[in-house]
Amino acid sequence: MATSKPNIRGTWNSKIGFILAAAGSAVGLGNIWRYPTVMAENGGAAFLFIYAMLVFIVGYPVMVAELSVGRRTQKNPVGAFKALSKNKIFTIAGFWCVLCGIAILSFYVIIAGWTISYFFEQIFFHAGLHDWAAWVSDTENGWLNAAVAIMFMAVTITIVLGGVSQGIERAVRLLMPLLVVIIGILIVYVMFQPGASEGLTEYLVPDFSAINTDLILAAMGQAFFSLSLGMGALITYGSYLSKKENIPEAAAMVTVFDVGIAFMAGLLIMPTIYMAQAQGVVIFDADGNLVAGTALIFQVLPELFHEMGGLIGLIFGASFFFLLSIAALTSAISLLEVPTSYVIDEHGIRRKKSAILIGGIITIIALFVAFDTSLIGTIDFIFSVIGLPLGGLFVSIFLAYFWKTENARLELEKGFDDINSTIFWPVYKVFIKYICPVLIAAILISTIVEAIR
Ligand code: PHE
Repeated sequence: MATSKPNIRGTWNSKIGFILAAAGSAVGLGNIWRYPTVMAENGGAAFLFIYAMLVFIVGYPVMVAELSVGRRTQKNPVGAFKALSKNKIFTIAGFWCVLCGIAILSFYVIIAGWTISYFFEQIFFHAGLHDWAAWVSDTENGWLNAAVAIMFMAVTITIVLGGVSQGIERAVRLLMPLLVVIIGILIVYVMFQPGASEGLTEYLVPDFSAINTDLILAAMGQAFFSLSLGMGALITYGSYLSKKENIPEAAAMVTVFDVGIAFMAGLLIMPTIYMAQAQGVVIFDADGNLVAGTALIFQVLPELFHEMGGLIGLIFGASFFFLLSIAALTSAISLLEVPTSYVIDEHGIRRKKSAILIGGIITIIALFVAFDTSLIGTIDFIFSVIGLPLGGLFVSIFLAYFWKTENARLELEKGFDDINSTIFWPVYKVFIKYICPVLIAAILISTIVEAIR
């Protein structure tokens, strides 16, 4: 008997399952590693202000767009664009999404690997094994970076192999809430430490003179990265979503949850940076730039846990990095799911083979990053800061002018019966047709102009 079953498309088991999976995709290193780093480098509160605006003005509408395109077509980004429009430009846009997924995951796993290394660093340090702690936390050790990244990638591939509800949904249900609780407790602890209030001021009192095109571009890149937008992750997740669900409502929950966690991460990390400074750790160089760069949180947070000391330090340190690696895992899953679902849908290859094939390719690229971590900044800039907003621009133009808003409305109506009688629809139309594409394009173009000047 033939054993090759057709690829049956999975669906989420429950509404909360979907929300958690989408929130699991959104909440990750973007919130706890990338956001504080980019924010601290870009003037603290001014960045927060622009970032939050862009999340709601551009991010949320694009999220609704991605989810509705995904649910309508039940396909990966390439297949979804193809299904709704003959225009070849969008097929290319679909490929761009797949490429961004591969590129972003190739550095994402390296940082995710660091979360594993630092989990052990905490255990070793608190056990008094300081040499071991120093060895395992050396982010410049290429072999170590490679080893932990391969471990992390293996787990990601295994979950994606398991498919949607068994693998992804089960993994996120418990661990997300736990992360929020831990961060909350740490914030309270940090607030009482010397230096903390200075960090808090820097984080919450905006200096609007810090706003420039670099900051705005960085904030837009961060908004897309953090919400998992612009590379079809939510087209793909939307393709597993039931027609009963209310997309605008689900998207609102995911957005608020994601921004909430980023905001909390800032509340934890900015005061921690200043607290570390108060203790003599050099955080800024003579020009006022952060010395730590991409490794920022991997330098200040472990210090914080060392400072707490004893069993408390161990418990918080180890569980923080453990939960951070879980948050990274649920995001990495969605990054791998996009190219994998593309190979499954468009090339008819079974899920297992596809996940191993794509995961293998990404692991190989990641090895280069493991040995040269300066590649992180470059790949991140091309594929996250430029690439994701570009993908988002395509999605909004696609919905508004090719698929057409009326068709989108018919899709959104499923699970949201009274869409016509609410303020949501007329406002949404203006955003997706005009505000989103114009704003994204304006920011991208002004960056290019600035760069060549
Ligand atoms: N949003 C994820 C995070 O914040 C990263 C990600 C980006 C996931 C793009 C999927 C798509 O860590």
